[in-house]
Amino acid sequence: MRTLTGITPTGAVHIGNYFGAMRPSIEAQAKGDCYYFIADYHSMTSVTDPRERREHTRGVAVDWLACGLDPKRSVFWRQSDVPEVCELTWLIGSLTPMGLLERAHSYKDKTSKGISPNFGLFAYPVLMAADILLYDTNAVPVGQDQKQHLEIARDIAVKFNQTYGETFVVPEPVIRREVALVPGLDGQKMSKSYGNTIEIFAEEKVLRKKVMSIVMDSRAPSEPKPDAERNLCVQLLHLVAPSDVAADLEARLREGGLGYGDLKKALVEHCWSFFAPARARRAELLANPDYVDQVLKEGAERARAVASVVIRRARLAAGLD
Ligand code: TRP
Repeated sequence: MRTLTGITPTGAVHIGNYFGAMRPSIEAQAKGDCYYFIADYHSMTSVTDPRERREHTRGVAVDWLACGLDPKRSVFWRQSDVPEVCELTWLIGSLTPMGLLERAHSYKDKTSKGISPNFGLFAYPVLMAADILLYDTNAVPVGQDQKQHLEIARDIAVKFNQTYGETFVVPEPVIRREVALVPGLDGQKMSKSYGNTIEIFAEEKVLRKKVMSIVMDSRAPSEPKPDAERNLCVQLLHLVAPSDVAADLEARLREGGLGYGDLKKALVEHCWSFFAPARARRAELLANPDYVDQVLKEGAERARAVASVVIRRARLAAGLD
């Protein structure tokens, strides 16, 4: 069974990304055939600075490798290193009804926010379908926000198969239930667009400052806090601290006697040590840019070996060969 997912290169990874998408993807490597790529073509609808795109693409590669993506077990590449995906976008786009794309929430959201639509934004789900179909993907783990894009990919696969004969595997969505709904600094869901993130590789000073800025209520340290489980720091501690330590801090807060300052200090400390091994690997990777290039190059070769078979099959089916 082949699992595939795309990672949008949008800058520094935060705790919400880590627990929401990164860790489940990395754990999935133990179970089988994983294909992960950095969606740099997709970033073209939002980023127009080439330097920024290059930096973010590399940054994602380094961060995922640091956190445990194993290029021996998984195929890990940069989307644009396999440009066959663009050809497939055209083949399937020519069968994709306008109405299907006009109904896409992400497209409607962006245009309603005043972003002036272009072809890329409109065709985004077609490129995403091509990503999936080009690798005979069985399962695509994504967040709830991408569910509709997956349905579009399935519709397109079925339509192509009906029109030209069995060509594509029809992919199954695996909607990640929010294993950990990670709260941000202000209590809303942690998200770059809310500006409430804690980056996993933030410098210690920045980490400390962000955690110290979390707003707590004005109850005195000695006061018991029966709602301790709802405290933001406690929720984050349950993610990054050993479970007995987090449970103990929560109990002390509930009983009264533990001040918010000490609670925050504990959060800083556990955040720092939770990501320490990844931080060390990241430092090695940053010192070894050739190694990262090599990983992406080999990943692209392996991805391309699959892609070239599938694109040939699609061309043949459509009468292009
Ligand atoms: N659009 C996805 C996101 O924003 C990223 C992505 C691109 C993707 N191509 C994909 C995810 C193919 C799964 C499969 O998160």
